[in-house]
Amino acid sequence: MVGNVPRGRPQRLDSGGLGKGNPDLRNQYALQVETGYFHGPLLIHVEKKGGTLSATQRRRNAALIAETHYICEQRLFSDITALCYHPPPQSAQRRSKESRPMSPSIDVAELAAAYATKSPQDILKLAFDLFGDELWISFSGAEDVVLVDMAWKLNKNVKVFSLDTGRLHSETYRFIEQVRDHYGIAIEIMTPDPALLEPLVKEKGLFSFYRDGHSECCGIRKIEPLRRKLVGVRAWATGQRRDQSPGTRSQVAVLEIDSAFSTTERTLYKFNPLAQMTSEEVWGYIRMLEIPYNSLHERGFISIGCEPCTRPVLPNQHEREGRWWWEEATHKECGLHAGNLIAKQ
Ligand code: ADX
Ligand code: SF4
Repeated sequence: MVGNVPRGRPQRLDSGGLGKGNPDLRNQYALQVETGYFHGPLLIHVEKKGGTLSATQRRRNAALIAETHYICEQRLFSDITALCYHPPPQSAQRRSKESRPMSPSIDVAELAAAYATKSPQDILKLAFDLFGDELWISFSGAEDVVLVDMAWKLNKNVKVFSLDTGRLHSETYRFIEQVRDHYGIAIEIMTPDPALLEPLVKEKGLFSFYRDGHSECCGIRKIEPLRRKLVGVRAWATGQRRDQSPGTRSQVAVLEIDSAFSTTERTLYKFNPLAQMTSEEVWGYIRMLEIPYNSLHERGFISIGCEPCTRPVLPNQHEREGRWWWEEATHKECGLHAGNLIAKQ
């Protein structure tokens, strides 16, 4: 994820020095590197893919990692992914959590290009530097918990919201509560406007989307509440990734002006810190740090939205095939991210 992959092979911790012969350190590697990208040496803890770190080892790693602001995942070799950590630089330590964000004069194109290959944490850090506590994280109750985790580690005051369409799985509702408890954060829940929803249901019933497409229902259950939420918001961050939908998300930028929800009075900035992460990397992060995840993932669900419009996928089926499966691939956007390719066509 970060440009400077260190040279040299990591050392197995059980193969020499103090760790020699220690079975607890089996499959753990460490490497001290000077990357130039960071200010000091990095200690890298490595889990070999398919390796067997014990729960205690993983918890210890997670605890170490949780203490730091700067974490990145690096693909060192084809079979080794590393979590790197180092203490925050003095300047970041000095910055108070309550500090006011800079008054931004933002060149979106320039920043998006400069951050295109930076780590999700770097992108989130930029977002907090620019917008401080005014940044809102949108959490769907699925694997985008990674975004919440990263944001919370940078700013314990992080603001999170979720759109409750009224049609989510019970597992997702429970998961949202679990995340609220796990991080000790408030999650603002937006619900549909009954004045819009009731006439739709009265006229067309509860499953009109199977007959005439999902846009009307998504418009009422998702887009209108999101629009209401974003009124007055200056910046939000989503868990969108390019690999989630080749048809519509392959060009998602790490930072963009949200053309769908900006108004004439206010420019809305949208960060997509996970844009370049792959599904494999997201799950590497969830497993390595042992953060909570939606139990539906244990039953073949990958991309999770509303219950009637989400289904598990078969091996090697693309995750997007589990969403709105009765519609064209290029229509599988509900409008939350109308700036994506589909909206431009
Ligand atoms: S969707 O447009 O197809 O529904 P997807 O499920 O891929 O979106 O999620 C992409 C990102 O959109 C999530 O990481 C999250 O930031 C945002 N998002 C999607 N659904 C919700 C939701 N119900 N509440 C809040 N944010 C959401
Ligand atoms: Fe309605 Fe399905 Fe869209 Fe959910 S995903 S708002 S149930 S059409």
